[in-house]
Amino acid sequence: MKEIGVGIIGTGFMGTAHALALVTAARLFDLPARPRLETVVDPDPVRAEAMARRFGFARHAADWRAVVEDPAVDLVSVTTPNHLHRPMALAAIEAGKAVWCEKPLAPTTREALEMTRAAEDAGVPTAVGFNYLRNPLVRFARELIEAGEIGEIWTFRGIHAEDYMADPDTPWSWRLDPGAGGGVVADLGSHILAMARFLVGEIAAVNGDLATVVTDRPETPASPVRRPIEVDDVARALLRFSSGATGSIEASWVAAGRKMRLAFEVTGAKGTVMLDMERLNELRLFRRGAAAGREGFVEILAGPEHPDYAAFCPAAGHQIGFNDMKAIEARYVIEAVAGGRPFSPGFAEATAVQAAVDAIRRSATAGGWQRPADILYEAGGPT
Ligand SMILES: NC(=O)c1ccc[n+]([C@@H]2O[C@H](COP(=O)([O-])OP(=O)(O)OC[C@H]3O[C@@H](n4cnc5c(N)ncnc54)[C@H](O)[C@@H]3O)[C@@H](O)[C@H]2O)c1
Repeated sequence: MKEIGVGIIGTGFMGTAHALALVTAARLFDLPARPRLETVVDPDPVRAEAMARRFGFARHAADWRAVVEDPAVDLVSVTTPNHLHRPMALAAIEAGKAVWCEKPLAPTTREALEMTRAAEDAGVPTAVGFNYLRNPLVRFARELIEAGEIGEIWTFRGIHAEDYMADPDTPWSWRLDPGAGGGVVADLGSHILAMARFLVGEIAAVNGDLATVVTDRPETPASPVRRPIEVDDVARALLRFSSGATGSIEASWVAAGRKMRLAFEVTGAKGTVMLDMERLNELRLFRRGAAAGREGFVEILAGPEHPDYAAFCPAAGHQIGFNDMKAIEARYVIEAVAGGRPFSPGFAEATAVQAAVDAIRRSATAGGWQRPADILYEAGGPT
């Protein structure tokens, strides 16, 4: 059987998720090629060694260039802080390797576009880790929408709220660095914008507002020195889609009590479909037309009839989780790298998401409606 050598840069939340996803996908899905874990990198050699041992990587290293220079590696997973995606992905592309990069693709549209162009010129497959699009019920929601089951789409309402920055004493980190993490509009806003595009289509214009609610944080854990915060904690935007539908998104990392509230409500002329990732196996569907007094949402539990669920479990309602969505993502990454259909969203689509993020930023400072297409054009696009 054909094999694909994999290198992973980073051993944090996402580095571990990529490794687990590849291992799981190889066991659950009939893949056209078997992923082979070659090299894992972390600047901390102890972490790199530990991850290599746990997952069975052939080699580990402290310098990320070891992955892009490894002739046994065909696919590079980039799971580092956002500002490192570009140099790592560009080096991997230059070495002729496919790239599976975490979201957001890059801190700016210009950088994302440069990465997209490099991959297109080199002809290498790309994938970006918007794993919530892999939820079987999200795919089912899109199928319902495409089949016209809720009619012409009128509105999208989306939120991605968590509370990992709600404590004002949570110390400064790369996510708070304007050039590296770029605030919640990039961190969580990119996820809900990707969801909006996936379900309703291209975003034509945004009218955004950003707010910083925690204005300084400890420089390091327990440090008495506090560092001013320059990025947003809360982001909101009105949306206009190219289709004519309208909508809104909100992203917050200070939403006390919310752990994974990526939720959406898509309403059309004939009904509504809604999902909240804190209950990711439960979709709610409302269809107009029931007798008066009998109208209401029906709850549909994820089951083997929905895309990719059956690989995990033959019974409905038994529930899949976060790492399972990542394993589904890994399935399609491997299929794309093995020569199948292109992975979606790849770098070009993630660049469109980034343009929407940047348009919200521009709207928040300059005011008024801003068009992602203008951001893309100014960055040298479209692709
Ligand atoms: N898809 C998702 O649901 C999801 C969830 C969380 C994070 N992310 C994204 O994943 C990326 C990483 O986030 P995370 O939460 O895993 O962060 P993390 O801090 O847990 O892990 C980052 C890793 O990068 C490594 N690293 C840092 N600098 C490096 C360098 N110069 N060379 C090699 N390795 C280096 C760190 O040592 C660490 O192992 C970000 O882009 C983030 O937006 C995506």
